[in-house]
Amino acid sequence: MVNKNRDIVSMLDDRFPLSGETLGKKLGISRVAVWKRIKKLQEEGYPVISGRAGYLLDGTAPLPLESFFPEEFPYPVRFTPRVSSTMDQARLEEERSPKLFIAGSQETGRGRRGRRWESPEGGLYASLLLFPETDFESAIVPVMALSVALTELLREEYRLPAAVSWPNDIMIGGGKAGGVLTELHGRYDILDRQILGIGVNVLGNPGVPEAVSLSTARGGEATSRPVSPAPLAASLFTRFHRIVTDLEREEIVSRWKSCSGTVGRMVRVERSRGGELAGRAVALGDDGSLVIRTAGGRTEAVRDGECRLAREEM
Ligand code: BTN
Repeated sequence: MVNKNRDIVSMLDDRFPLSGETLGKKLGISRVAVWKRIKKLQEEGYPVISGRAGYLLDGTAPLPLESFFPEEFPYPVRFTPRVSSTMDQARLEEERSPKLFIAGSQETGRGRRGRRWESPEGGLYASLLLFPETDFESAIVPVMALSVALTELLREEYRLPAAVSWPNDIMIGGGKAGGVLTELHGRYDILDRQILGIGVNVLGNPGVPEAVSLSTARGGEATSRPVSPAPLAASLFTRFHRIVTDLEREEIVSRWKSCSGTVGRMVRVERSRGGELAGRAVALGDDGSLVIRTAGGRTEAVRDGECRLAREEM
């Protein structure tokens, strides 16, 4: 059964108030009925602000997250206002069943390659715990799927020009809006536990020079989708689940390639095992690698590392 109150929350924005009349028209109910539902939402703990110009969401307040997810969403959602890192929560989880951990803020958020991920309130911080029982080589597929889910969501629902910068940074313009991290646990060649972490700068800015938040990227434009961590999380993981259940590996890889903003650009890759490779990014491999053609005409594929645009591309 559809929760009607939830419909109202997903229509609300954190910056542009919606009047009771507008909401009423959208829902086909009277202004008084809208007011009653809003009152109920406030009693249930939803941070809905009523003002003279209408109703707003307090985007920085923790929301009852579960309520944004469709009833058929397959993973239990655990929301914690503040944690060390959702990756730790997922790693320490004893129950052997998939779960989605979401935090309002993180004390020691982790990025790729041991970096810190600044995690103030107003961002989306989530880790999905999965028990895939596949080989380690297949672990790249859900990582690609999560990048695709976020990029396509931002393009289609938020009208933002998002693209994946290899390997899995989500960029808008020249700024980094989000990143994906994975941790793998297993024995021999069987991948037992995979944790997919994602961080998105939603509101405000985490104070990192190259970062951009969705609210800044959207500027003053009021689109049909509110920019707020809770509805974003729900849409993102619902899309992710659809991608991994409906699509074959080849289709996921191909969608990931279509989301790329790296191919064709001059890049500099700092390799994980040391050394640097510079040249034009000419292709993406099905295994998630980046193929680079150097100035000397040599072509080489890199599996992991840190990719930056070369100075002439900036
Ligand atoms: C990157 O370096 O681009 C990846 C960043 C991943 C950050 C997310 S936030 C939720 C989860 N918990 C963490 O500590 N890290 C990931």
